[in-house]
Amino acid sequence: MRVFDTVIAFKNFINSDCLNKKLGFVPTMGALHNGHLSLINRAKTENDLVAVSIFINPTQFNNADDLKNYPKTLDADLQMLKAVHCDIVLVPSVAEMYPKGAVSETFSFDGLENLMEGAFRPGHFNGVGTIVKRLLEIVNPANAYFGEKDYQQLLIIKKLVKLLNLNINIVSCPIYREPNGLAMSSRNELLSLPQRQEATIIYKILCDVKSNFKKEPHQQVYEAVDRAFKAHPFFKLEYFVIAEADTLMPVNKIIATKSYRAFIAVFAGNVRLIDNIAL
Ligand code: PAF
Repeated sequence: MRVFDTVIAFKNFINSDCLNKKLGFVPTMGALHNGHLSLINRAKTENDLVAVSIFINPTQFNNADDLKNYPKTLDADLQMLKAVHCDIVLVPSVAEMYPKGAVSETFSFDGLENLMEGAFRPGHFNGVGTIVKRLLEIVNPANAYFGEKDYQQLLIIKKLVKLLNLNINIVSCPIYREPNGLAMSSRNELLSLPQRQEATIIYKILCDVKSNFKKEPHQQVYEAVDRAFKAHPFFKLEYFVIAEADTLMPVNKIIATKSYRAFIAVFAGNVRLIDNIAL
């Protein structure tokens, strides 16, 4: 496994040793878990070589404490990557990724950037768009892999690639869950053991929503979610939305030809968790 901490060295390697090779790319912010590894394993089956980036992108954090507390586990990450036979790792510095200072570009993603995560984390998707654009331009892979846990991010990145006219296939990968149903996330490391055990409620509630979505009026489904979290001492619901899967517009009337997903964001103490499910 080759590890590069400068973009220039990474690019030199790609342009000399990886010519005519199909490159798969998994961008990450580190604190790797089995969800990331599932993306890397998929990328390995569909490409000649797999590159992973580890970069905690400051511009996508709208909260300074969230950035400060974000788990940083580079040595363990590199060991995990080596164990799954990742080929190339890029670990660039903030100075190199943001030579003019950590400021985002402004994007318009047809309004997707203003809903849900965008509404509660102002500027978040400009930060994601800025860094993913830069990383895709540096790596220029055939395929780039993103998890459906960040479903809104996935849709936005698909739009970004269209907007920039990049010839890169964005591959969406299913949510990888802990045995109790909690969606795998680097932030899970910040939960206490009881919080992590009890967080099973998030997935259970999403499963209830899935079974009731077509049977009950939407209002009733929304109220049941609200009630379930109000009754739980560990979690505070930030938002719950049932939306059309392509546009993320909140559901009004179910249209048979459309598909829908339920999205949720909750706080466990200071830790913010998101999850979603196809309905
Ligand atoms: O999903 C993530 O880990 C990040 O948002 C990404 C795509 C690596 C950009 O920083």
